[in-house]
Amino acid sequence: MSESYADTLNDLTPELTGARRVVVLISGNGSNLQALIDEQTHDRLGGEIVAVISNVADAYGLQRARDAGIDAVVLPHGEYDSRDAYDGALIKVIERHEPDLVVLAGFMRILSTRFVQRFHGRMLNIHPSLLPAYRGLGTHAKALADRVTEHGCSVHFVTEELDGGPVAIQAVVKVSEGETEDSLKEKVHAREHLIYPIAVKWFLEGRLRLEGEAALLDGTPLPPQGLRLSHADAAEELDEE
Ligand code: GRF
Repeated sequence: MSESYADTLNDLTPELTGARRVVVLISGNGSNLQALIDEQTHDRLGGEIVAVISNVADAYGLQRARDAGIDAVVLPHGEYDSRDAYDGALIKVIERHEPDLVVLAGFMRILSTRFVQRFHGRMLNIHPSLLPAYRGLGTHAKALADRVTEHGCSVHFVTEELDGGPVAIQAVVKVSEGETEDSLKEKVHAREHLIYPIAVKWFLEGRLRLEGEAALLDGTPLPPQGLRLSHADAAEELDEE
C-alpha cells in the first residue's frame, strides 16, 4: 500500500452523511455478507444491513441473514419472463427498503442498464481479481493458466461495463509455487472479507464516492486500482504464514 494512503484504513474521523441503510444482494454462500454482518455486530460497519435479497431460494446467505435478525427476501428470477421484468421487480423490492447503498455480494446475475442506472454511484461489487485483469467468471483458473505472480480481489462501483466500474480498494495475494485453484480461491476469499467491509464503511461514512469516471476517497481521486492492500499487509492482517 502506498504511504500516502497507509493511514486511511485506520482513520476514524468520518463525516457522517446519513447514508446508512444497506441492502445486500446474494445468490449463494454469502461469506462476504457474513463479513459485513460481523462488522455490523461489532458496530463497525457505519450503517445497518436492512435487507438481504437472493435470486436463489436456498442460498445459504439467506440463513446467515435470518440468524442475524436481518430481513431475508427471496426473489426467484425463474418466475419472470425477461431480464427487464425481473430487474424491474428487484428495483421495487430494493427500494422498499430505502437503501443508501446496494452491495452485490456474489449476486450471480447480469444487470440490465436500467438497474445499473437506478443505483448509479450507490452500488458496489466485489470481484475476485485485480481489476482490470480477469473480468467475468473463472478468474482463479485464468490467473493460474497465465502463471501470474500476483492475483487478488477488487471492490468497485458498478457501472454498465461488466466488472469495469471505478475501483475503490484491492487486496493482493502472491501466487505460491504449487498453488491450486482451491488454495488460491481460499486466499482471495479471505482478502475479500478484509476489504469489502472497509469499502462499505468508507461509503456509509461519506468518505467514498463516485464522481464521473473516478472513485474519490476523502475528496481525492483514487488511482485506477484503488487503494491497494499489499500481500504483506493482507497476510499480516490475516495471520497467514
Ligand atoms: C466471491 O468470490 C466474490 O468475489 C464474487 O462472488 C463470490 C461470492 O462469495 N463476486 P460469497 O457468496 O460471498 O461467499
